[in-house]
Amino acid sequence: MPEPASPPPYGSTFPDVRRRPITLHHLQAMRREGVKIAMLTAYDAASARLLDECGVDCLLVGDSLGMVMQGHASTLPVTLEQMAYHTACVARGNRSAWLVADLPFGSYQRGIEQALASATVLMQAGAQMVKLEGGGWTVPIVSALVERGIPVCGHLGLTPQSVHALGGYRIQGRSAEAAASLRAQARELGQAGAAMLVLELVPSELSALVSADYPGITIGIGAGSGTHGQVLVLHDMLDITRGPKPKFVRNFMDGASSIAEAVRNYVKAVKSGAFPIDAVHGYTA
Ligand code: KIV
Repeated sequence: MPEPASPPPYGSTFPDVRRRPITLHHLQAMRREGVKIAMLTAYDAASARLLDECGVDCLLVGDSLGMVMQGHASTLPVTLEQMAYHTACVARGNRSAWLVADLPFGSYQRGIEQALASATVLMQAGAQMVKLEGGGWTVPIVSALVERGIPVCGHLGLTPQSVHALGGYRIQGRSAEAAASLRAQARELGQAGAAMLVLELVPSELSALVSADYPGITIGIGAGSGTHGQVLVLHDMLDITRGPKPKFVRNFMDGASSIAEAVRNYVKAVKSGAFPIDAVHGYTA
Protein backbone atom coordinates (compact mmCIF):
# COMPACT_ATOMS: atom_id res chain seq x y z
CA MET A 1 0.00 0.00 0.00
CA PRO A 2 1.55 3.45 -0.89
CA GLU A 3 2.53 5.61 2.08
CA PRO A 4 0.59 8.88 2.57
CA ALA A 5 2.62 11.95 1.53
CA SER A 6 1.88 13.71 4.82
CA PRO A 7 4.77 14.75 7.11
CA PRO A 8 5.90 12.15 9.66
CA PRO A 9 4.08 12.11 13.00
CA TYR A 10 5.76 12.91 16.33
CA GLY A 11 7.37 16.08 14.86
CA SER A 12 10.38 14.13 13.62
CA THR A 13 13.04 16.32 11.96
CA PHE A 14 14.96 13.33 10.65
CA PRO A 15 15.15 12.53 6.97
CA ASP A 16 12.59 9.90 6.14
CA VAL A 17 15.22 7.22 5.66
CA ARG A 18 13.73 3.83 4.83
CA ARG A 19 15.31 0.44 5.20
CA ARG A 20 13.78 -2.96 4.65
CA PRO A 21 12.15 -4.50 7.73
CA ILE A 22 14.66 -6.65 9.61
CA THR A 23 13.56 -10.26 9.94
CA LEU A 24 14.85 -13.14 12.02
CA HIS A 25 16.49 -14.44 8.85
CA HIS A 26 18.43 -11.18 8.48
CA LEU A 27 19.54 -11.39 12.10
CA GLN A 28 20.65 -15.00 11.63
CA ALA A 29 22.60 -13.97 8.51
CA MET A 30 24.26 -11.17 10.48
CA ARG A 31 25.28 -13.70 13.10
CA ARG A 32 26.76 -16.03 10.45
CA GLU A 33 28.62 -13.19 8.75
CA GLY A 34 29.96 -11.79 12.02
CA VAL A 35 28.03 -8.50 11.74
CA LYS A 36 27.31 -7.30 15.28
CA ILE A 37 23.68 -6.62 16.16
CA ALA A 38 22.76 -3.36 17.91
CA MET A 39 19.73 -3.44 20.21
CA LEU A 40 18.32 -0.76 22.54
CA THR A 41 15.29 -0.61 24.77
CA ALA A 42 12.34 1.51 23.63
CA TYR A 43 9.10 2.23 25.46
CA ASP A 44 7.31 4.83 23.31
CA ALA A 45 6.57 5.64 19.68
CA ALA A 46 8.80 8.71 19.29
CA SER A 47 11.95 7.03 20.57
CA ALA A 48 11.17 3.86 18.60
CA ARG A 49 10.97 5.95 15.44
CA LEU A 50 14.22 7.73 16.21
CA LEU A 51 16.13 4.53 17.11
CA ASP A 52 14.86 2.82 13.98
CA GLU A 53 15.93 5.76 11.80
CA CYS A 54 19.37 5.76 13.45
CA GLY A 55 20.02 2.16 12.40
CA VAL A 56 19.27 0.21 15.59
CA ASP A 57 18.65 -3.38 14.47
CA CYS A 58 16.40 -4.55 17.34
CA LEU A 59 14.15 -2.73 19.77
CA LEU A 60 13.41 -4.28 23.14
CA VAL A 61 10.28 -3.25 25.00
CA GLY A 62 11.92 -4.28 28.24
CA ASP A 63 10.13 -4.66 31.53
CA SER A 64 12.89 -2.30 32.67
CA LEU A 65 10.13 0.20 31.88
CA GLY A 66 8.97 -0.50 35.43
CA MET A 67 12.10 1.24 36.69
CA VAL A 68 12.73 3.69 33.83
CA MET A 69 9.20 4.89 33.04
CA GLN A 70 7.32 4.08 36.24
CA GLY A 71 9.97 4.74 38.91
CA HIS A 72 9.75 1.37 40.64
CA ALA A 73 12.79 -0.15 42.38
CA SER A 74 12.53 -3.35 40.32
CA THR A 75 10.76 -4.81 37.28
CA LEU A 76 8.42 -6.93 39.42
CA PRO A 77 5.37 -4.61 39.51
CA VAL A 78 5.05 -4.43 35.69
CA THR A 79 1.85 -5.99 34.35
CA LEU A 80 1.05 -7.69 31.06
CA GLU A 81 -1.42 -4.91 30.21
CA GLN A 82 1.32 -2.30 30.69
CA MET A 83 3.73 -4.31 28.50
CA ALA A 84 1.05 -4.59 25.81
CA TYR A 85 0.41 -0.84 25.95
CA HIS A 86 4.10 0.06 25.55
CA THR A 87 4.62 -2.63 22.88
CA ALA A 88 1.76 -1.15 20.84
CA CYS A 89 3.26 2.36 21.23
CA VAL A 90 6.69 1.16 20.07
CA ALA A 91 5.20 -0.83 17.19
CA ARG A 92 3.42 2.31 15.93
CA GLY A 93 6.69 4.31 15.90
CA ASN A 94 8.89 1.53 14.52
CA ARG A 95 9.15 0.76 10.83
CA SER A 96 11.91 -1.74 10.31
CA ALA A 97 13.72 -2.79 13.49
CA TRP A 98 13.03 -6.29 14.89
CA LEU A 99 10.68 -5.85 17.85
CA VAL A 100 11.10 -7.93 21.02
CA ALA A 101 8.83 -7.56 24.06
CA ASP A 102 9.34 -8.87 27.58
CA LEU A 103 6.87 -11.23 29.19
CA PRO A 104 6.62 -9.57 32.62
CA PHE A 105 6.92 -11.25 36.02
CA GLY A 106 3.90 -13.44 36.76
CA SER A 107 2.79 -13.74 33.12
CA TYR A 108 4.43 -17.12 32.33
CA GLN A 109 5.52 -18.65 35.65
CA ARG A 110 2.28 -20.67 35.93
CA GLY A 111 3.13 -22.73 32.86
CA ILE A 112 2.55 -23.28 29.18
CA GLU A 113 -1.12 -22.21 28.99
CA GLN A 114 -0.47 -18.94 30.79
CA ALA A 115 2.66 -18.26 28.73
CA LEU A 116 0.79 -18.88 25.46
CA ALA A 117 -2.01 -16.54 26.49
CA SER A 118 0.43 -13.82 27.59
CA ALA A 119 2.62 -14.14 24.49
CA THR A 120 -0.51 -13.86 22.34
CA VAL A 121 -1.33 -10.52 23.97
CA LEU A 122 2.17 -9.14 23.23
CA MET A 123 2.30 -10.50 19.66
CA GLN A 124 -1.13 -8.98 18.96
CA ALA A 125 0.17 -5.68 20.34
CA GLY A 126 2.94 -5.72 17.69
CA ALA A 127 5.85 -7.76 19.11
CA GLN A 128 7.70 -10.07 16.74
CA MET A 129 9.38 -12.05 19.50
CA VAL A 130 8.80 -12.46 23.23
CA LYS A 131 11.51 -12.63 25.87
CA LEU A 132 11.34 -14.60 29.09
CA GLU A 133 13.83 -15.00 31.91
CA GLY A 134 15.45 -18.11 33.33
CA GLY A 135 16.51 -21.60 32.30
CA GLY A 136 15.51 -25.17 33.17
CA TRP A 137 11.84 -24.75 34.06
CA THR A 138 11.32 -22.38 31.10
CA VAL A 139 12.42 -24.97 28.50
CA PRO A 140 8.97 -26.62 27.97
CA ILE A 141 7.42 -23.14 27.78
CA VAL A 142 9.95 -22.05 25.13
CA SER A 143 9.30 -25.24 23.10
CA ALA A 144 5.53 -24.72 23.27
CA LEU A 145 5.76 -21.09 22.12
CA VAL A 146 8.22 -21.88 19.31
CA GLU A 147 6.11 -24.85 18.10
CA ARG A 148 3.16 -22.48 17.81
CA GLY A 149 5.07 -19.96 15.71
CA ILE A 150 6.06 -17.47 18.39
CA PRO A 151 9.76 -16.55 18.22
CA VAL A 152 11.39 -16.59 21.66
CA CYS A 153 14.34 -14.83 23.24
CA GLY A 154 15.74 -16.37 26.44
CA HIS A 155 17.48 -14.39 29.18
CA LEU A 156 20.18 -15.86 31.45
CA GLY A 157 22.73 -14.55 33.94
CA LEU A 158 21.35 -11.68 35.98
CA THR A 159 17.61 -12.11 35.51
CA PRO A 160 16.03 -9.00 37.07
CA GLN A 161 12.67 -10.70 37.75
CA SER A 162 14.59 -12.93 40.23
CA VAL A 163 16.49 -10.05 41.84
CA HIS A 164 15.39 -11.00 45.37
CA ALA A 165 16.39 -14.63 44.96
CA LEU A 166 19.74 -13.59 43.47
CA GLY A 167 20.48 -11.19 46.33
CA GLY A 168 20.73 -8.05 44.18
CA TYR A 169 21.97 -6.89 40.78
CA ARG A 170 25.25 -8.78 40.82
CA ILE A 171 27.42 -10.63 38.36
CA GLN A 172 26.39 -14.26 37.72
CA GLY A 173 28.24 -17.40 36.61
CA ARG A 174 31.49 -16.63 38.39
CA SER A 175 32.25 -20.02 39.95
CA ALA A 176 33.05 -23.03 37.76
CA GLU A 177 29.82 -24.66 38.94
CA ALA A 178 27.65 -21.62 38.17
CA ALA A 179 29.32 -21.22 34.76
CA ALA A 180 28.69 -24.88 33.90
CA SER A 181 25.07 -24.56 34.98
CA LEU A 182 24.56 -21.43 32.85
CA ARG A 183 26.14 -23.15 29.83
CA ALA A 184 23.83 -26.15 30.28
CA GLN A 185 20.78 -23.88 30.55
CA ALA A 186 21.81 -22.04 27.38
CA ARG A 187 22.25 -25.32 25.53
CA GLU A 188 18.74 -26.42 26.55
CA LEU A 189 17.19 -23.10 25.51
CA GLY A 190 18.96 -23.33 22.15
CA GLN A 191 17.68 -26.89 21.65
CA ALA A 192 14.15 -25.76 22.59
CA GLY A 193 14.35 -23.22 19.74
CA ALA A 194 14.98 -19.88 21.46
CA ALA A 195 16.31 -17.97 18.45
CA MET A 196 17.83 -15.25 20.63
CA LEU A 197 19.39 -15.24 24.08
CA VAL A 198 20.19 -12.24 26.27
CA LEU A 199 23.17 -12.76 28.58
CA GLU A 200 23.20 -10.19 31.38
CA LEU A 201 26.06 -9.51 33.79
CA VAL A 202 28.16 -12.60 33.19
CA PRO A 203 31.95 -12.79 32.77
CA SER A 204 33.17 -12.08 29.22
CA GLU A 205 34.84 -15.48 28.84
CA LEU A 206 31.63 -17.28 29.79
CA SER A 207 29.43 -15.30 27.40
CA ALA A 208 31.96 -15.90 24.60
CA LEU A 209 31.86 -19.65 25.26
CA VAL A 210 28.05 -19.70 25.33
CA SER A 211 27.92 -17.61 22.12
CA ALA A 212 30.29 -19.93 20.27
CA ASP A 213 27.97 -22.91 20.94
CA TYR A 214 24.60 -21.20 20.72
CA PRO A 215 22.57 -22.03 17.59
CA GLY A 216 20.82 -18.63 17.65
CA ILE A 217 21.84 -15.06 18.36
CA THR A 218 23.31 -13.99 21.70
CA ILE A 219 22.91 -10.41 22.89
CA GLY A 220 25.04 -9.20 25.78
CA ILE A 221 24.54 -6.58 28.44
CA GLY A 222 27.48 -6.29 30.80
CA ALA A 223 28.69 -9.58 29.31
CA GLY A 224 31.74 -8.43 27.32
CA SER A 225 32.33 -8.40 23.59
CA GLY A 226 32.00 -12.09 22.71
CA THR A 227 28.24 -12.05 22.04
CA HIS A 228 26.66 -11.57 18.59
CA GLY A 229 25.10 -8.29 19.63
CA GLN A 230 24.66 -5.79 22.46
CA VAL A 231 21.76 -4.19 24.26
CA LEU A 232 21.59 -1.24 26.65
CA VAL A 233 18.75 0.50 28.42
CA LEU A 234 18.16 3.67 26.35
CA HIS A 235 17.94 5.98 29.34
CA ASP A 236 21.26 4.66 30.70
CA MET A 237 23.24 5.23 27.50
CA LEU A 238 21.69 8.68 27.06
CA ASP A 239 22.66 9.50 30.68
CA ILE A 240 19.07 10.28 31.63
CA THR A 241 19.18 7.72 34.47
CA ARG A 242 20.19 9.36 37.78
CA GLY A 243 22.16 7.73 40.59
CA PRO A 244 24.66 4.87 40.41
CA LYS A 245 24.79 3.08 37.07
CA PRO A 246 26.39 -0.22 36.16
CA LYS A 247 29.99 0.38 35.08
CA PHE A 248 29.45 -1.42 31.79
CA VAL A 249 27.13 1.41 30.66
CA ARG A 250 28.77 4.01 28.43
CA ASN A 251 27.39 7.54 28.23
CA PHE A 252 26.93 7.98 24.47
CA MET A 253 25.81 11.61 24.94
CA ASP A 254 29.49 12.35 25.68
CA GLY A 255 30.72 14.20 22.60
CA ALA A 256 27.35 13.93 20.81
CA SER A 257 25.39 17.04 19.87
CA SER A 258 22.00 15.30 19.75
CA ILE A 259 20.24 12.14 20.89
CA ALA A 260 20.26 10.93 17.27
CA GLU A 261 24.04 11.34 17.11
CA ALA A 262 24.46 9.47 20.41
CA VAL A 263 22.34 6.59 19.10
CA ARG A 264 24.21 6.50 15.77
CA ASN A 265 27.49 6.46 17.71
CA TYR A 266 26.20 3.51 19.75
CA VAL A 267 25.28 1.60 16.59
CA LYS A 268 28.71 2.34 15.08
CA ALA A 269 30.52 1.36 18.28
CA VAL A 270 28.65 -1.96 18.53
CA LYS A 271 29.21 -2.76 14.85
CA SER A 272 32.92 -1.89 14.95
CA GLY A 273 33.54 -3.70 18.23
CA ALA A 274 34.53 -0.44 19.97
CA PHE A 275 31.73 -1.11 22.50
CA PRO A 276 31.86 -2.85 24.84
CA ILE A 277 35.29 -3.25 26.30
CA ASP A 278 35.57 -6.42 28.36
CA ALA A 279 35.46 -6.99 32.10
CA VAL A 280 33.83 -3.83 33.46
CA HIS A 281 31.66 -4.77 36.40
CA GLY A 282 30.40 -2.97 39.51
CA TYR A 283 28.59 0.35 39.83
CA THR A 284 29.59 4.02 39.55
CA ALA A 285 29.45 5.94 42.85
O1 KIV B 1 14.04 -5.19 30.61
C1 KIV B 1 15.08 -4.92 29.97
O2 KIV B 1 15.33 -3.79 29.56
C2 KIV B 1 16.00 -6.02 29.73
C3 KIV B 1 17.38 -5.64 29.26
C4 KIV B 1 18.15 -5.06 30.37
C5 KIV B 1 18.09 -6.79 28.62
O3 KIV B 1 15.68 -7.15 29.91
